[in-house]
Amino acid sequence: MPLRIAHAAAEITPFAKTGGLGDVVAGVARALGRRGHDVRAFLPFYAPVAKLDLPFVSVDFLRDIEVRMGERSFTFSIFTTRLPASSVDVYFVHCPALYHHDRIYSSDWDEYLRFGLLCRAVFECCQRMGWSPDVLHAHDWHTALLPVYQRSLYAWDRLFANTRTVLTLHNLGYPGTFAAGVAGDLGLAPHGHLLHRDDLAAGRFSFLKTGLIWADLLTTVSRTYAREIQTPEHGFGLDAMLRARADHLVGIVNGVDYGEWSPESDPYIPQRYSAADLSGKEATRQALLAKVGLATTPRAPVLGLVSRLTAQKGFDLLFDTLPEFLFHRDVRLVALGSGEERYESLLAWLQVTFPGKVWYYRGYNEELAHWIEAGADIFLMPSRYEPCGLNQMYSLRYGTPPVVRRTGGLADTVEPWNPVSRQGTGFLFDHFTPEGLRWAIDTALRVQADPEAWRQLQRNGMAKDFSWDRQVLEYEKAYGRLRRQR
Ligand code: ADP
Ligand code: GLC
Repeated sequence: MPLRIAHAAAEITPFAKTGGLGDVVAGVARALGRRGHDVRAFLPFYAPVAKLDLPFVSVDFLRDIEVRMGERSFTFSIFTTRLPASSVDVYFVHCPALYHHDRIYSSDWDEYLRFGLLCRAVFECCQRMGWSPDVLHAHDWHTALLPVYQRSLYAWDRLFANTRTVLTLHNLGYPGTFAAGVAGDLGLAPHGHLLHRDDLAAGRFSFLKTGLIWADLLTTVSRTYAREIQTPEHGFGLDAMLRARADHLVGIVNGVDYGEWSPESDPYIPQRYSAADLSGKEATRQALLAKVGLATTPRAPVLGLVSRLTAQKGFDLLFDTLPEFLFHRDVRLVALGSGEERYESLLAWLQVTFPGKVWYYRGYNEELAHWIEAGADIFLMPSRYEPCGLNQMYSLRYGTPPVVRRTGGLADTVEPWNPVSRQGTGFLFDHFTPEGLRWAIDTALRVQADPEAWRQLQRNGMAKDFSWDRQVLEYEKAYGRLRRQR
């Protein structure tokens, strides 16, 4: 039976994206729409989004809506447009007082209000649309207050009486923790009994924790991560709570939008190719090296890296390991990313230290991300932890076998190459140590030197199917479970 499903998130690609969150929210929403569900999505009308040349339409009955948040009040209006290639309407919450920054995230004092208002706007819009969602689906800390708002400020409204809430945990490393006083500013002071008492007593209020307590269902983005976050090592202090809710926690591996990420149809790359004919990959590799001005010897393997530059992604290991490879071996490194300054500086240092061998682009660049996925020989993703990860799945499709650590979604989506059975899709190491990564890169380079084995490895990866149409069935199953709970 078709469901009415509302997604609310801080990122939805192509409107607002800093990482995988945007891709995943768009992918799930689009695939649910294709399955016949009535899907609507909510996103702030960030200033840079408002400037995009897209057909945003103002909704006349969703204009100048005033919301009280503690002592303050905010007024917002809604603009809408279709999520490209979908049946999903995206509702953009226009509130310049909160979304005037030139970036999606800020470290300003009112960050909690920016996302608190997004949650409130979802309810306010549903009320004015007379639209009763079966599922309110929150993503990460930014929208994790949806469940508690349903049970507090909107508990009186029959429109939401049958609504069930889902919270997807994309990354426990970002809990959205603020001073306890913000609870009042968010309108939750009269509902203190619904909040985490020990936290409040300790002077804290966490969006994510509040969501963990009250969401009817918790999902995370891979099966392995669903297990890992119940351990102290990966739980970021939330493992006990997650163990207590284990019956309501499922791991669903992310999907890939192959409409965007396929070497057969990629509009960004210089030459398209497929598993049947990989000659276009070699041409793309040469074009990439020429584009970035690296020396092109006939077979020096190209290591590719596209990432937010954070400790999560294993950069400490990379900097312990890469200089030695770059010094002793004829390899190239093409890296794209921005984030923590210390890692940006280290990549810039590698580029200066190994001229002709290393090229680094600091920043965010969609086109270059596609070029690297296609033009590199080996993709590096040695994450310390990885809830799911998309780049390793993209690299599989582009015939660029990944070197990954066996954690989270990397463990669920990359299979170790077996030289005897010739099965497997990449190279995995277990321990987060330089020796582990060194072994994995070294193994990858050895296999790469054997063209026949390498072709087989590439084909194995390219044949994998992580499409959303497949993965979305798991979300449907989870939603179905919620309805039975009624
Ligand atoms: P995370 O969400 O933790 O950053 P994922 O692997 O799930 O990791 O998703 C990362 C997404 O962000 C991919 O689509 C990747 O191509 C993109 N990405 C990351 N950094 C950049 C960058 N500097 N330029 C372009 N795309 C980037
Ligand atoms: C997070 C995770 C990443 C995941 C993405 C989308 O940012 O770090 O592993 O793929 O969300 O779910």
